[in-house]
Amino acid sequence: MATRKRRSVEPSITLCYLSYSILIIVPTSEFSLRNCMIPEPFNYTDKLTVLCYKMGLLAFPSKIPSNVATLVISFNYISEIRKEDLSRLTFLTHLNASNNNISHIQEGAFRDSKDLEELNLSQNRLSNVSRSWLEDLPKLSIIRLDGNLIKHIEPDVFASLSSLKVLNLTDNKLQQIERIQPAFGLNTLQELYIGINNLNIFQSSDVSVTSISLKMLDLSQNLLTKFQITENIFPALEYLDLSYCSHNGNLDWIVPNATMLKKVTTLKLDGVRIPEEKTAAILGTFNTSLYRLRMDDIKPIKPDRLLSDACSSVLRVLHFGENNISSLTKHMIAPCYLLQQLDLTSNNIYHISGKTFMNFTQLISLHLQHNKLTKLNGAFNGLPRLELLDLSANKINKLNCPDFGNLISLRNLYLYNNKLSSVSVCLFKNLKNLQKLKLGTNKLLTISTSFFGVLSNLKYLQLRYNKISSLQKSTFAHLHSLQTLDLVDNQISEIDEYAFEGLGNLTWLSLASNKITKNTIKNKNVFSGLFKLQHLDLNSNYITFDREHLTFPPFVHLKSLHTLAINSQRHHGLQFLPRNLLEGLTSLKIFYAGNLNIRYLYNDTFNNTPHLWHLDLTKNILSDNSALSSQAFHPIPELTRLILSRSGLQSLDFLIKANLSKLSILRASGNKLASINQTLIDSIPRLKFLDLQNNTFPCDCSSAWFIDWSLLNNQTQVLYLNKYICNYPSAMSKNSLEDFNTESCIVDYSFICFLCSSLIVAFTLVVSFVCSFLRWHLVYTYYLFLALLHDRKRKQQHGFQYDAFISYNTQDEPWVIKELLPNLEANQGWRLCLHHRDFQPGRSITDNIIDGIYNSRKTICLITNNYLRSNWCSQEIQVATFRHFDERKDVLILIFLEDIPTRHLSPYYRMKKLVKQQTYLCWPKAGDDTKVFWQKVKMAMETK
Ligand SMILES: *[C@@H]1O[C@H](CO)[C@@H](O)[C@H](O)[C@H]1NC(C)=O
Ligand SMILES: *[C@@H]1O[C@H](CO)[C@@H](O)[C@H](O)[C@H]1NC(C)=O
Ligand SMILES: *[C@@H]1O[C@H](CO)[C@@H](O)[C@H](O)[C@H]1NC(C)=O
Ligand SMILES: *[C@@H]1O[C@H](CO)[C@@H](O)[C@H](O)[C@H]1NC(C)=O
Ligand SMILES: *[C@@H]1O[C@H](CO)[C@@H](O)[C@H](O)[C@H]1NC(C)=O
Repeated sequence: MATRKRRSVEPSITLCYLSYSILIIVPTSEFSLRNCMIPEPFNYTDKLTVLCYKMGLLAFPSKIPSNVATLVISFNYISEIRKEDLSRLTFLTHLNASNNNISHIQEGAFRDSKDLEELNLSQNRLSNVSRSWLEDLPKLSIIRLDGNLIKHIEPDVFASLSSLKVLNLTDNKLQQIERIQPAFGLNTLQELYIGINNLNIFQSSDVSVTSISLKMLDLSQNLLTKFQITENIFPALEYLDLSYCSHNGNLDWIVPNATMLKKVTTLKLDGVRIPEEKTAAILGTFNTSLYRLRMDDIKPIKPDRLLSDACSSVLRVLHFGENNISSLTKHMIAPCYLLQQLDLTSNNIYHISGKTFMNFTQLISLHLQHNKLTKLNGAFNGLPRLELLDLSANKINKLNCPDFGNLISLRNLYLYNNKLSSVSVCLFKNLKNLQKLKLGTNKLLTISTSFFGVLSNLKYLQLRYNKISSLQKSTFAHLHSLQTLDLVDNQISEIDEYAFEGLGNLTWLSLASNKITKNTIKNKNVFSGLFKLQHLDLNSNYITFDREHLTFPPFVHLKSLHTLAINSQRHHGLQFLPRNLLEGLTSLKIFYAGNLNIRYLYNDTFNNTPHLWHLDLTKNILSDNSALSSQAFHPIPELTRLILSRSGLQSLDFLIKANLSKLSILRASGNKLASINQTLIDSIPRLKFLDLQNNTFPCDCSSAWFIDWSLLNNQTQVLYLNKYICNYPSAMSKNSLEDFNTESCIVDYSFICFLCSSLIVAFTLVVSFVCSFLRWHLVYTYYLFLALLHDRKRKQQHGFQYDAFISYNTQDEPWVIKELLPNLEANQGWRLCLHHRDFQPGRSITDNIIDGIYNSRKTICLITNNYLRSNWCSQEIQVATFRHFDERKDVLILIFLEDIPTRHLSPYYRMKKLVKQQTYLCWPKAGDDTKVFWQKVKMAMETK
């Protein structure tokens, strides 16, 4: 807007006009995005990420900043990528256009995006892959075309993509392996996904090219009847996925020369349900190389047999989940003793015999989650290298002291989602290296003081979703290394003083969803000892305060606290924050106080938290205009993010004097804001991101400044302006605020300038036309006008000053003096008005003429050639004729002193007209008698 005004006060008419026409085509700034957002943190001058997903778009948005590097436009209804959609986006490296309806891509659509590295077109409706749009993208390395309707791939389509490494063609309609030939022929391709394509046969003779770089081939979910490799087409293949590839319990495996797949280290055979000897044949091909094998969900009849085939001397990782093994015995898995990782998830195992893993001296991780174990029978003895044991989601209700007897290497023990109601002290005594213990979702009621006595290396303790109701003094006294303590969703209502003593390394503590009240934390030393605590979560408890000033502010010991969350206190919320609630939190940077029914903030609330950086007061009741005052923000000049969504705010005016010079993100959606003005925006000079969705902005001129600023400023992103709906007037209640035409509100200087100059030009033209062609008409009109005025004046007076006004040319003066005066004045006694004698000095001639004519009963014009040529005389004639016609009286007496032929009168149009109507007198020729003449004059003078 500023530019608009500046540009428009150009003085010159031409420039004025030009700038007006430029204005009409000025594009709106590319910083105002429709339906898209730039996630924070961002810097407009750097390369940008622009997110436009799930916006119901039917086409690419037009106003995407040209410095976008990552564009996400997934989950919309776009049906085509047009050439102009991505032209200009020359820095684009990543495009996610998945989950649209794209069925067509115009030729050259990516022509300008030479830096494109990743192109995601998955879940669309493309039916072919064409060179016309995939040409010449030298950096493109990942293409996702999964979930389309592709039947056909043009032969040389990938030829110019010299960096292509990953191609995902999963879930298409390719049906025959020959059709995928263009992909196999790519020298650079490392990963190819062609699962779910209704392929029935895979045979190397159909491929007939060598994929020299291909490391990963995913053929999963094609119902293959035959897999045949007779040519060495995959010399580099390391990973082969054949999950769910069997067809009706069959898969013909023809690989006569095992060395052709000798580099394969990872094989997936999930869901391949074929007779065990056939599986054995497949495994036989790889038994010198296979390191990692997945055989989930194959439901073998004889798992023992299968396991002994699978567990070769080189296999180290085995997934054998979902296979209905209900009882795990030493015998069954004995052949796999060299494994490092064994995953037996979801097998319904309810029984493990003791010493099952006796010889598994190499085992590092063991997954037994989602089974039906109730007890452990000392099964885990003798696992000297075991680091991870996952027993979550079983039915374990009791653990005995020897269960984890000598797992001296164990670092991670997951026991969550079981039925433990207590844990005995002895259990962990040998787990000297335990770092992460998850005991959540059990039935623990208490944790005794010495509970974790030996876990001096424990860093992470999860106790969420239990039934712990109190924390006693020094419960965690020995957990010197603990960094994270998760007590979410228990019943804690009592916390002794010094309960957290000893947790000198704790940085993260969550007590959310408990029964903490103001009494729980009323004592002085509840949180003492937590020197390094950075994050404290007290969300969803029952805290309320009844005093403006607390006797013992609860957090005084938490000198390192960085983040405090007290959202959503149940029942009535807090209503207000006691003045000294945050006392001691000198390091506090982030404070969440949402959904608390807070009605006002004391001005000194933040006096002790000078570094506050992020303040979230979402969902409170700050509708009163005095609820937030500028002063409350004065102690926190570093505030950078302020979240005030859904708080009933009617105005943000408190920000004007709040001095928040660092505020860069302001979210105040879902309030009752009706206007944002320049003063407000100027008071937050670093603002980069403004979210004011769902407020009550009217679509009238009071919003004009805000709309223009949002669209044109290049520093602050106003989130989804096009989704702001008019709150008023009701006729526009479905319109978008952005569409309100602010032009009508702007005093458009350029337009005024244009108008003025046009008028001046037109006026000048008219005047010069009139001057050159209609001058006398003009002058006449002028006198008519003056005469009219006088006429009016005159009518109010009675009687005439003179009997006659004599209109003559100065050159005829001698005749006037010698003949006229003596006869008419001296002899006949008329009072005459002569301009050389009776005009008042100092008045304009025109006025004198008019007065003279109107103050006289008659006007005598002495017509000579000189008279006709004189301007003044013709004026006199005009005034006189006007009076003549106006009063419809015989006021004019024409006396021709010279003989003037009628044709000489022609130029004097008025005169000619008069002469025609009027009897006139002629001065007799020299020598003739003048008596008759004067007698005629006398008679003319006497007519009324
Ligand atoms: C990008 O595309 C994939 C689908 O291929 C999707 O799962 C992912 O969530 C997308 N990213 C976003 C932000 O939508
Ligand atoms: C390939 O596509 C499938 C199916 O959409 C998807 O599940 C898989 O994650 C994709 N893989 C890669 C590497 O893109
Ligand atoms: C923090 O942990 C380290 C290493 O586990 C330990 O040496 C140190 O004493 C602990 N600090 C406190 C204050 O407990
Ligand atoms: C903006 O609003 C505030 C408070 O309502 C007012 O003091 C200020 O003068 C306004 N500024 C402009 C430019 O209208
Ligand atoms: C933003 O606009 C100002 C003037 O309105 C200009 O000086 C500045 O260079 C612009 N910044 C960018 C990043 O375009």
